[in-house]
Amino acid sequence: MALVYVTRRMHFSASHRLHSEALDEQQNSEIYGACNNPLGHGHNYDLEITVCGEPDPVTGMVIDLKNLKELVQREVIDHVDHKHLNYEVDFLAGQVPTAENIAVAIWRVLEKKFSGVKLFRVKLYETERNLVEYYGA
Ligand code: NI
Repeated sequence: MALVYVTRRMHFSASHRLHSEALDEQQNSEIYGACNNPLGHGHNYDLEITVCGEPDPVTGMVIDLKNLKELVQREVIDHVDHKHLNYEVDFLAGQVPTAENIAVAIWRVLEKKFSGVKLFRVKLYETERNLVEYYGA
């Protein structure tokens, strides 16, 4: 038995505003800084989706990467690319669209969509230097 981890990297651009209804204006400004800008701001996100499973004895593949790409495109990227994450994305409704919350929401969208492999990790880069990882716990 050989458990192998397979990753597809995808990209999207989106705008958001970090603002919590549970905080007052001054607290929001102090905590989120420039990210609390009333009219929002944008990021070029990179998203890595990792699944794990055993290579098929016939094809040698854990998952067809074309299928993984199409699934993530259809279920996630098409919903967030060039959108305002505070207002236009059903699976983020009512949440502060931090990278952390976006990663968890993407996990919940994808986790039931696989057969034969398991979703292992959602890794979201908000900038080149800032990234979050979610493993479903
Ligand atoms: Ni931001």
